[in-house]
Amino acid sequence: MIVIGGSTSRDLAKELAMLLECKCILASSTRFPDGECYTRIEGESLNDDVVIVQNTYPDHSIIEMLLLQDAAKRMGARSITLVIPYFGYARQDRIFKPGEPLSAKVMANHLGLVCDRVITIDIHKESVLKNFKCPASDIKASGAIAEYFMDKGIDLVLAPDAGAAERAKDVGTRMGLPYDHLEKTRLSGTEVRIAPAKRGCVNKNVLIVDDIIATGGTILAATIQLKEAGAKSVSVVCTHGVFTGDAIQRLTGGNIDALLCCNTLESKVSNISVASAVAEELKRAKKKKGILRKN
Ligand code: R5P
Repeated sequence: MIVIGGSTSRDLAKELAMLLECKCILASSTRFPDGECYTRIEGESLNDDVVIVQNTYPDHSIIEMLLLQDAAKRMGARSITLVIPYFGYARQDRIFKPGEPLSAKVMANHLGLVCDRVITIDIHKESVLKNFKCPASDIKASGAIAEYFMDKGIDLVLAPDAGAAERAKDVGTRMGLPYDHLEKTRLSGTEVRIAPAKRGCVNKNVLIVDDIIATGGTILAATIQLKEAGAKSVSVVCTHGVFTGDAIQRLTGGNIDALLCCNTLESKVSNISVASAVAEELKRAKKKKGILRKN
């Protein structure tokens, strides 16, 4: 197996190759003067099962992913597995208003044209995977998150909304802790309202778990509610730290006691690694099929 690291996921690709004890090639990716993407996988040929690790966020990373697949194919890759740590556009997984595109399906249809297998991590809605024509699986970061917080004195695990309730349940169960979820109403792209917490959190060390933090609006509103309800501390963790604008500064400058995310998107708080979970999934796929190819 050979792991190819795209520009969004070099550290994760290196860690993955180390765990799998295989070769890692970091693709060189630059921009032409007009902004178009140039990418290259160095070497003569890839006569092996190839794993490309690359996000589909931000937009220009999608082009790089498509180009890397073509380059790998031309270099003789026996099979191509895409590891997409953060699958952009997964949140537009249905038509909310007439005239909108089904963005998540568009992405799956195009990204899956050349590859043999897809692995995502905590994709916003797993149903998106049905749009891939090849085998696709989503792995969970809950194990890595629970392990990280195991010795941090947490008393209660909460999701900021019903959509993340299963995630809080998974993390809470792994940590042997109670879990629950808050009720969120989205008012706009940046504003949300969180109803007062029903579960008692007086003097508790609470861990909020979400899949994505983008503007930080959800987490800030949830933290305010929890502190008002008497929480002793509020730690926050998500899988994908998108952190638009100055979100990290806003989140770390006030009520939040700890802010962490996984290394699906690299930032100064992405200290929880999903590499072993991905490595296990790749080993499982290889064992099941003998090779990673779909046929
Ligand atoms: C929503 O369904 C997601 O799970 C996150 O709660 C949301 O994307 C967070 O966005 P923001 O940080 O902008 O509130």
